[in-house]
Amino acid sequence: MDITQQKDNEQTTLWNGGAGRAWVDAQESLDQLFKPFEDRLVDVVRAGAARRVLDVGCGTGATTLAVARLLGAQGQCVGADVSGPMIAVARARAQQEGTPASFIRADAQRHAFEPASFDMIISRFGVMFFDSPVQAFANLRHAAREGAVLRVIAWRSAAENPFMTTAERAAAPLLPNLPARQPGAPGQFSFADRTRVLSILEESGWAEIDIRPIDVACTLPEKALHGYLTRLGPVGLILQDADERTRAQVTETVRAAFEPYVHGSEVRFTAACWMIGAQAPAV
Ligand SMILES: C[S@@+](CC[C@H](N)C(=O)[O-])C[C@H]1O[C@@H](n2cnc3c(N)ncnc32)[C@H](O)[C@@H]1O
Repeated sequence: MDITQQKDNEQTTLWNGGAGRAWVDAQESLDQLFKPFEDRLVDVVRAGAARRVLDVGCGTGATTLAVARLLGAQGQCVGADVSGPMIAVARARAQQEGTPASFIRADAQRHAFEPASFDMIISRFGVMFFDSPVQAFANLRHAAREGAVLRVIAWRSAAENPFMTTAERAAAPLLPNLPARQPGAPGQFSFADRTRVLSILEESGWAEIDIRPIDVACTLPEKALHGYLTRLGPVGLILQDADERTRAQVTETVRAAFEPYVHGSEVRFTAACWMIGAQAPAV
């Protein structure tokens, strides 16, 4: 199974281009950084009776693989992602470690999933990029069997996550072409507004909606910080094409701005997120 009805929108282009490349390059650091979220999703699957799980926007596959390891031969975890390069890494990891997870390259907003085929749908930061979130969550609901559980993690606001915007705030004076984040537009903080998330889930037909704030301690080795700040986010994207002088100047400025988060050999911050839960009602 591979990509179907893919619309060549901005996010598809981004995740198959610069953003996808950055996540592939930084896969190990990012998986380490976001391991606490993987653990939470694995705990959710462990606590339930799910046998067939869909991981939306699975990227390079860490959460899909972790759930597939947990389910073993008793179940199946399928990762879906719009990014070809990231799905390729996920498949290679599954093959290398012999974990029977499966991966499809698909736009989760539009992909024709088999109806009522999953009894749990999870995501670690993979659901904030849809151009029509209501269409996407309705599509996911069709893929869920009656009573299936949705558990997805998304970022709260940029204001509550200063670590995540450190680079762009520091680099803004040096990068006049740095795009401003548009509230509500597809992107990292598009689910910041709890009321908006609630109405997306209601309009797309989910029931038992439960949106809880979670504050999660995250760590990164200091030696991985350079790679993180020069590759990821809006600044990382611009630096991919910047000249050497700009790159050096921005890197130095941004690295200095991260200093409050550096504690010896470790970088520490708190991630302010939502654990979003819902259930597929009887149709
Ligand atoms: C922030 S990354 C998170 C990746 C992964 N869940 C993780 O935690 O490592 C967001 C992911 O969502 C994927 N994505 C964006 N829009 C998508 C869509 N419409 N359908 C499926 N995946 C999508 C991206 O390609 C990317 O892999």
